[in-house]
Amino acid sequence: MTKASAINPPSVLITGASSGIGLATARYLVDRNWQVFGASRHIEEASQENPDIFWIPLDVRNDESVRSCINEILRSTNGGKLDALINVAGYSIWGSVEEVSIENIHRQMDTNVYGALRMIQSVLPHFRKNGLGRIINVGSLGGRAIIPFQSHYSASKAALDAFTQALRMELQPWKNIHISLVEPGDINTPFNENIAWVDTDNSPYGDRIKSAEQVVRESLPKAPGPVIIAKTIFKALTAKSPRVRYAAGPDSLAVPWGKRLLPDWLALKLIRDHFKV
Ligand SMILES: NC(=O)c1ccc[n+]([C@@H]2O[C@H](COP(=O)([O-])OP(=O)(O)OC[C@H]3O[C@@H](n4cnc5c(N)ncnc54)[C@H](OP(=O)(O)O)[C@@H]3O)[C@@H](O)[C@H]2O)c1
Repeated sequence: MTKASAINPPSVLITGASSGIGLATARYLVDRNWQVFGASRHIEEASQENPDIFWIPLDVRNDESVRSCINEILRSTNGGKLDALINVAGYSIWGSVEEVSIENIHRQMDTNVYGALRMIQSVLPHFRKNGLGRIINVGSLGGRAIIPFQSHYSASKAALDAFTQALRMELQPWKNIHISLVEPGDINTPFNENIAWVDTDNSPYGDRIKSAEQVVRESLPKAPGPVIIAKTIFKALTAKSPRVRYAAGPDSLAVPWGKRLLPDWLALKLIRDHFKV
């Protein structure tokens, strides 16, 4: 896939398009003449402000919602031509491995992992039929450098990494279907506003959870905005031979190299020091 031509613009579906990285990516692609389908649960405000994006309500945790989103797109594009899927929808829960409820863990995985898988399983038959397609999964550097007290989120992003790598191998016979992982570092978006911070009063991890929370709360507002991730996604979408992974944003050099070169015990110590736990 190359840059859009005015006659036949590539079409792309972006989940989690109502805010942050998804919205910045949607805008970036619309400005380059892509046909953009923006999907998420709350689309009213974003749709009023961005009438040049085609908005579709979507809850990635719901099979029927995913089915009707894809059907709507295939009905409205020329001959069911969807060229790319960008899985951005995601959020993070907070708390210790010992204390977070299984119900909350299930919701976390249902959005960040199963949600992306629902989308991938829905588009791949069309991509294979058309012999063409791109999938970008938005993971996180937190999937490689595991975040203490945000481990369920880290685990969900590590799972996306594993599925991306598996799909690269499984889709190998389809030379024009590509899948990549984009791994942002800290990016200044409303992400923290959607974290359910936990009450630490009765937790045996109380003070340390609070320290990590403070680091996370302070770091995001200082981080760059989401356009750098939109640019990275565009690079992955338009590369002739897209890479398996694209790290972007703060720590995008330090984390991958650190994980490669340092022994595990030292990497974990540096992460603990960073989060002051
Ligand atoms: N910000 C960072 O520092 C950072 C770093 C690494 C990775 N990331 C990843 O980047 C992605 C976007 O995060 P962001 O920073 O842009 O945060 P954000 O502004 O909170 O955006 C999250 C998006 O996900 C959508 N979403 C959540 N649950 C959904 C569901 N069940 N179905 C459909 N859409 C859903 C939200 O829309 P609705 O509420 O309208 O559904 C929203 O559009 C996430 O996957 C996140 O893990 C972010």
